[in-house]
Amino acid sequence: MHETFLFGRMENMNDAINNEVPKAVLHIDGKQIELPVLTAADGHKAVDVSKLYDKYGITTFDPSLNSTSVCQSTITYVDGNNGILRYRGIPIEQFDRPQPNFIEIAWLLIFGVLPTRAELREFRDRLTSHELLHEGLREQFSDLPPKSPPMAILAAMFSQLACYHEKFLPLDDEELFIEAATRLISKARTIAAYAYRRSKGLPFTYPDPALRYCANFLHLMFSIPYQQYIIGEEVEDAMNLVLILHADHEQNCSTSTVRTVGSARANLFASCAAGVSALWGPLHGGANVEVMKMLESIYQGGMTPEDCIKAAKDKDNPFKLFGFGHRVYKNYDPRAKILRNAADRVFARMKESDPLLDVARKLEELARKDSYFIDRQLYPNVDFYSGILLRAIGIPPNMFTVIFALGRLPGWIAQWKEQHDNPLQKINRPRQLYVGEMHKNYVPIDER
Ligand code: SDX
Repeated sequence: MHETFLFGRMENMNDAINNEVPKAVLHIDGKQIELPVLTAADGHKAVDVSKLYDKYGITTFDPSLNSTSVCQSTITYVDGNNGILRYRGIPIEQFDRPQPNFIEIAWLLIFGVLPTRAELREFRDRLTSHELLHEGLREQFSDLPPKSPPMAILAAMFSQLACYHEKFLPLDDEELFIEAATRLISKARTIAAYAYRRSKGLPFTYPDPALRYCANFLHLMFSIPYQQYIIGEEVEDAMNLVLILHADHEQNCSTSTVRTVGSARANLFASCAAGVSALWGPLHGGANVEVMKMLESIYQGGMTPEDCIKAAKDKDNPFKLFGFGHRVYKNYDPRAKILRNAADRVFARMKESDPLLDVARKLEELARKDSYFIDRQLYPNVDFYSGILLRAIGIPPNMFTVIFALGRLPGWIAQWKEQHDNPLQKINRPRQLYVGEMHKNYVPIDER
C-alpha cells in the first residue's frame, strides 16, 4: 500500500514541474527572460529559477533561504500567517488526544497514510525487535565523560549505527529502507535514555519489549534496578503528545540539513546525525533549554519579567526572549497553544503545579501587549511551553533538545525518503557571489 503511495505521489509532484505553467519575466542586462511559475496547494507562487544559471549564468541571492523553496513536498503544511500546521493534511489539533500515538504519526509522516491496524502492529513489532543496542555500542557509553552533552552523544551514536548496521547504508530497496528506519527510530530512544543515564552515573536498564514506545522510553530513563517504575498514564500521554508535536515542520534548519546530506546519497544514519547537530543550535532546537534558564532566573529573582522584556528589546543586549519569534510563524505557533493547555491538564491530573508555568504566562502576557513584539509579529513558538511540560514528566533540561530530536526523527526520515525517491533530485550545490580579490600572486615568506 505505502509503496504505491510513495512512488505514485512522486510522479504527480514531478508532473507539476513539466506541465504548462504561467510565466514570470525577468528583465536583466537588456535581456527578457521568461521563467516558469509553480503554484503550491494553497496557491502560494514560486518562480522556478532551477535552470537560470545553466541557461543564462545568473543566480538569485538569498543567504538564509528565507525566500527560497528548495523542494516540492507532500509531507507537512505550515501556514505561518494563520498559525496552521498539518501532517499529510491532518491538522495537529486532531492529535491532541491520547489516541493516536507517536508511532502512528511516525508511520503517517513516512508512508503518507494512516496505518491499518495490521500495519501498526507490524511496525510496533519491528520497533520492539530493534530496541536493543549492539553491546559494543552500549559499552561505548561508559567511555564517555559523564558531563558529555547528550546531543553530542546522540549525534555520535547515530553515526556509529553505520558501524554496526553497514547492511543499511545503501538504501535503494524499500525493505532495506523500512529496516533502517525502524532500527533508527527504535534505537534512538535507547540511545537518548542511555545518554541521560550516563550523565547521572546510573546503571543502564534494558528495554522492556512489553512496553509501547513512549512507556519504554520512560522506563529506560527512570527505572532503577529492583524498583518497579510506575508509568502514569498522564505522563505517557504527555510524552506521546510532545513527540507528535515535534515530529515534522517542513524545511526547518535541521530538516534541510538532513536533505542536503541525503542529497549526496549519504546513508540515513549519517543524514540524521547531521540533523541532530543542526537542531542543537540555541536558535533552533536548543531554545527550549534557554527558555527554562530564562524562566528559572525570573523565578529565582535574578530578574523580573519586565527586566526580561526590556533586555529582549535592547539592541545592545544579545539577550533574546527565547521561545518567542519564528522564521515562518508570524502568528501563535499552534504547537505552543496545545503544549500550554497540555501542561495545565497534566498538572491537574498529577495534582501538582509548577511556578514556572505562571512565570511563562506572565511573560507571554507582557510580550503580547508590547508594541516591540506586536510590530515584529513575535509570538510564543513550540519551545516556549515545551520545557515546562517536559519538566512535569521528569525530563531534565539537558535532555530537552534530545526529546525534540526523538520527536523530529520520523520527520527527518520522511523528508529524506521523499527526496531519495525523487528521480529529478540532484546533489545540493548552492552557488555564491564571490566578492574577494580577483587575482593576487604568492609572496615568499621572506618577502612578506
Ligand atoms: C524552532 O524553522 C522551524 O520550523 C523551527 C522550529 C521547528 O519545529 O523545526 O519551529 C523549531 O527552531 C523554533 C524557534 C526556536 N528559537 C527561539 O525561540 C530563539 C529565539 N527566537 C529568535 O532567535 C528568532 O525569532 C528566530 C531565530 C526564531 C527567528 O528569527 P527571524 O524570523 O529570522 O527573525 P529575525 O531574526 O529576522 O528578527 C526580526 C526582528 C529583529 O528585530 P529588528 O532587527 O527588526 O529590530 O525581531 C527581533 C529581531 O531582533 N526578534 C526578537 C526575537 N526574535 C526576533 N527579539 C527579541 N527576542 C526574540 N526572540
